[in-house]
Amino acid sequence: MTLHIFGSLNMDLVCQTPRLPVPGETILGTEFTTVPGGKGANQAVAAARLGAAVRMVGRVGNDAFGQALIQSLQVEGIETGDVQIEAGVSSGVAAIAVDTSGRNHIIVIPGANGRVARSDVERLSARLAPDDTLLLQFEVPLPEVMAAAATAQQQGVTVIVDPAPVRNDLPEAFYGLVDWLTPNQVEAEQLVGFPVADQKSAAAAAKVLRQRGARAIVIKLGAEGVWVEAADAAFPVPAFEVPVVDTVAAGDAFNGGLAVALSEGVSLLEAARFATATAALSVSQAGAQPSLPTRQAVEALLAAHIG
Ligand code: RIB
Repeated sequence: MTLHIFGSLNMDLVCQTPRLPVPGETILGTEFTTVPGGKGANQAVAAARLGAAVRMVGRVGNDAFGQALIQSLQVEGIETGDVQIEAGVSSGVAAIAVDTSGRNHIIVIPGANGRVARSDVERLSARLAPDDTLLLQFEVPLPEVMAAAATAQQQGVTVIVDPAPVRNDLPEAFYGLVDWLTPNQVEAEQLVGFPVADQKSAAAAAKVLRQRGARAIVIKLGAEGVWVEAADAAFPVPAFEVPVVDTVAAGDAFNGGLAVALSEGVSLLEAARFATATAALSVSQAGAQPSLPTRQAVEALLAAHIG
């Protein structure tokens, strides 16, 4: 049973700042770091640290960032033979500002991620087996994301899509390819076209997204927890209370945790709690991949909150 990630690898260029600037403003920050990230690679690392066998398909540039991004996956035991090194383009980068409350602004320059092509889908397709899981995001081209979802569906693979960065050009056919769609609050609002501010509005949004064809929905509401909506269950899961240092990659941590738990066959409630605990631990550490917790840490947090 393998978790496949078809998606992005970015080097995160992170500026710590007392507060986020407003448009037109220059402010002095406090620290600069380069940290391996990218929604695809983060979800791969999250799943690997939780104990899954993980393969990554994607592209990096022929530059120092590309080498570092591949190495950051390899040290986690992730299979990277299908991460292509692309000549003539930079690796993906993300310019990130993080304030002292852990809030962030992120601008992604796709670089080599934008060169992901049908040949990558074919490589992925050849590796899939019926009990596997595929995790997708929107930092590589949409036609390839949809082709990857379609081949996975044909092969009986569970498809989990993190619709980030959110897009307003999704064809109706997209939703029918998705087993689990996991927008955050902002993404859910943009997908459904009405405000999503709490569990009640998240439940309404989840119903709309299921009516479009996605089989199950998790709406991630940050400190408010998540709303889970599937064919035979609909329920909220509260967030764990943790000190917030940096929310970058919290959604990726959640998706890695959800994929691992679902692939292990636990109940929906247990899977959602496992994913919520994974995300909680990630926000209490700085950086994308450095913040992703181990299985032991997630199980300890869950155990501390039982009974
Ligand atoms: O989800 C967090 C990620 O978004 C960062 O690591 C950054 O690379 C962007 O892709």
